[in-house]
Amino acid sequence: MSISFRTVLKWFWRYAKPYQWAFYACMLSTTAIYVLATIAPLFYKRLLDGIATSDRSTEAVAAMLVTVGMIGLVIGSRWIFYRITGYLIVFFESRVLNAMDEGMFRQLMYHSYAFFANNFAGTLTRRVKRFSDAFERLTDSFLFNILPLAITTIGAVVVLFMRDWRLSAGFFASVMVILVGNIAFARWRLKFDVARSEKDSAVSGSLTDAFANIVNVKAFARQRFEEDRFHVIRGELLFAQKKSWNLYETSAAVQAFVMLLVEIGIVFTAVKLWQRGILTVGDFVLIQAYLISVFDQLRGIGNIMRRIFESVADAKELVEIVEQMPDVRDIPRAKSIVVKKGTIDFQEVTFNYHKTRKTIDRLSLRIASGERVAFIGPSGAGKSTFVKLLLRFYDADSGHILIDGQDIRRVTQESLRAQIAFVSQDPILFHRTIRENIQYARLDATQEEVEHAAKLAHCHEFIVNLPEGYDTYVGERGIKLSGGERQRVAIARAILKDAPILVLDEATSSLDSESEFLIQDALQVLMKGRTTIAIAHRLSTIMAMDRILVLDGGKIVDQGTHDELLKRGGLYQKLWNIQAGGFLTEGEV
Ligand SMILES: Nc1ncnc2c1ncn2[C@@H]1O[C@H](COP(=O)(O)OP(=O)(O)O)[C@@H](O)[C@H]1O
Ligand SMILES: [Mg+2]
Repeated sequence: MSISFRTVLKWFWRYAKPYQWAFYACMLSTTAIYVLATIAPLFYKRLLDGIATSDRSTEAVAAMLVTVGMIGLVIGSRWIFYRITGYLIVFFESRVLNAMDEGMFRQLMYHSYAFFANNFAGTLTRRVKRFSDAFERLTDSFLFNILPLAITTIGAVVVLFMRDWRLSAGFFASVMVILVGNIAFARWRLKFDVARSEKDSAVSGSLTDAFANIVNVKAFARQRFEEDRFHVIRGELLFAQKKSWNLYETSAAVQAFVMLLVEIGIVFTAVKLWQRGILTVGDFVLIQAYLISVFDQLRGIGNIMRRIFESVADAKELVEIVEQMPDVRDIPRAKSIVVKKGTIDFQEVTFNYHKTRKTIDRLSLRIASGERVAFIGPSGAGKSTFVKLLLRFYDADSGHILIDGQDIRRVTQESLRAQIAFVSQDPILFHRTIRENIQYARLDATQEEVEHAAKLAHCHEFIVNLPEGYDTYVGERGIKLSGGERQRVAIARAILKDAPILVLDEATSSLDSESEFLIQDALQVLMKGRTTIAIAHRLSTIMAMDRILVLDGGKIVDQGTHDELLKRGGLYQKLWNIQAGGFLTEGEV
């Protein structure tokens, strides 16, 4: 999708609109600052002309002091307008940036599970950040660079025109030539800047990769190899940097040379005009003041233009994402699902992640109210995908999924997921306290309720031994807990949720046999009266279920009770033989 500058502006405007008055006020007061800046040299001119022509009489001095007073007034007013602009811009930008971050966070959260599976969290974070940075830079560039340049140029052209039209025209033409040249050059140079910043990211990336893999580097004694590899990558940055920076130097040299010619030309003209009695000493001061202020601003304009182009490109990256429709969304006026019994119906459901292969292949299945089914099958059979379809993380390509007779595509996602307690295959926790992590299932749960769930899931024992108990932070993604501990916290959370449908995706896979044994009775209690789907490979879990479904290649290839399936042989027996050995020797069964 290619995003136009208009679309970027549309998104900026969406968040800036409520504060537009502050922006307009900023423009006005910035305009005032630079109009005053254009006026000030006029008083200096009057002062100098006075000094050059008048005697030192009391009246003449008095007149000059009036001029000094005027200069003071102009500078004083500028000071006031500067302060007004300063506070206004703080007001405007801080609020818009806040609205922007919150708004974009919300926009992104609407996206489907698939979206987040396909986009790195780090990349998304960076894009959100860059979007608001881009807005800030664009606003600043406009208010502090573009607008001032426009006003000072116009002001100088007008004032010079009143002195002599040739001076004014020459000045205006030179400014235009430099400006257009600068913009064209900044555009052209953009690709070299992009190349440089790509190499720059590559350098950071390769540092991170090497540090993250330090165990491998050390264990395989590959320091030299990594150094050589880094040398190559850093070399590419060096090359790109030289190119981009040299181009900049060249352009600066050309620009400065043009400015030099313009300055000489204007001063030369001024001397000629003075010779003919048209210009005074004060006019020289006037011209010099305008030349300095306008050229000063022009000198930086190339970089400003580059910043503007870069900011727009940065902003486009996020706009591109938020302009996409989420691929799983509620239908208009979707109702809440009503689950009384918890029957689940898959009707000829087909789904694939890629066109090349069917992950779920015309799967039909009916799970009765309160029935407990186990899913088993080789890795990659589609078990987790089946569960993700039930939760509507993905929409099926064809077929229907019904819960108590209601198509899950026709109800709100929120109400659907409220009815399902889900323990995922690899539970990840928030870097928040353990209590908050368990409470995530029911935000208003009391400490007693949280503890009760934790006791059932056998995580209370290890939680009370943590330094801060239930107030302990668990580290990014829950890294400070072991896999088994995380799983037990996730189970406690599912217990607390108390939903009519329970889905366990290898929920006990990381538990040692002992904790698994302990948790079994909790799961038994939890499953009572609830429709349960348990993807499992532990015999103890499988045995406790009403029905076992064998999944392979996205199809149900067999089903029945443990004994029936064993008797029939086939895939179940094969899986059983591979896995059972371990359990039997552990003496669990
Ligand atoms: N987000 C994804 N994008 C593409 N392919 C996927 C994705 N998730 C799973 N798959 C593929 O779909 C197949 C089924 O995966 P899954 O349902 O997780 O199997 P399992 O039965 O082991 O739980 C696998 O071949 C897997 O590689
Ligand atoms: Mg799985």
